[in-house]
Amino acid sequence: MSPRLLRTPAELRAACDAARASGSSRTVALVPTMGALHEGHLSLAREARRRAGFVVASVFVNPTQFGPSDDFTRYPRDLDGDVNKLAAAGVDAVFAPSPGDMYPPGDDTRVRVGAVAAPLEGTHRPGHFEGVATVVAKLFAIVGPCAAVFGRKDYQQLLVVRAMTRDLFLPVEIVGHPIVREPDGLAMSSRNAYLSPEERARALGIVRGLAAAGRLFAGGERSRVALEGAVRASVEPIATSIDYVEARDGDTLAALGDSVGAPAALLVACRVGTTRLIDNLVLGEDPVPVA
Ligand code: PAF
Repeated sequence: MSPRLLRTPAELRAACDAARASGSSRTVALVPTMGALHEGHLSLAREARRRAGFVVASVFVNPTQFGPSDDFTRYPRDLDGDVNKLAAAGVDAVFAPSPGDMYPPGDDTRVRVGAVAAPLEGTHRPGHFEGVATVVAKLFAIVGPCAAVFGRKDYQQLLVVRAMTRDLFLPVEIVGHPIVREPDGLAMSSRNAYLSPEERARALGIVRGLAAAGRLFAGGERSRVALEGAVRASVEPIATSIDYVEARDGDTLAALGDSVGAPAALLVACRVGTTRLIDNLVLGEDPVPVA
């Protein structure tokens, strides 16, 4: 069955309120997305389906999380295709507002998360997490009590959203869902569509580096420099530029000393051609990817 298409915050709020009012099995789950959906998003939708009686996916390319040199205007958009995919994943409703619905005239409030938002993406994409936290807070305020499912590929985003939800006492259970990878190991991302076939092949250096570090960690290696070095050895030859390759505390993203304990997140951001890709591996928690 085709999901209901909801266009305004008022329609979304009414649908979620009605679902909750209709009985105890009608708990609500939210899957926030920016569309251009791939199998990774659909696995989030299926996880939401397992958890709740009423599942809503949002499809909104959020302007406030893109910087001036980011790809807001060329970000892929295909609402009809997304709705068809979400129908197959069993979603009940799709929320697809306009920028003016989410940021009406006079909108003047932003949500800023502290330390966990500062390094890594926070340094390389100033303002990005303020935009993410703001739009996610708006979505949570509209939907109300729910479970919200986020992919672990955007690992820092997941921690930022968790911190915001905790600090603002929002009635939302945050669910982190494992990274979904292509058969050859590349982490699924809407931005993979930008890669030429040659760049697509080169991009595998990212997951190969993470896998090499994962195997070293499983074999007992605990030196931060050695683990980061294993990733760099694979990423440097294929990347056009590297923003970071870093092992950090897996819960807080605080910088680590020389020795890496578990859980520690190994995080990578680099460009292959003009496309910026991110990936990560939580050592001692995630299975070592096959690459
Ligand atoms: O991960 C994304 O697609 C976006 O950052 C999110 C969480 C939907 C907020 O716009």
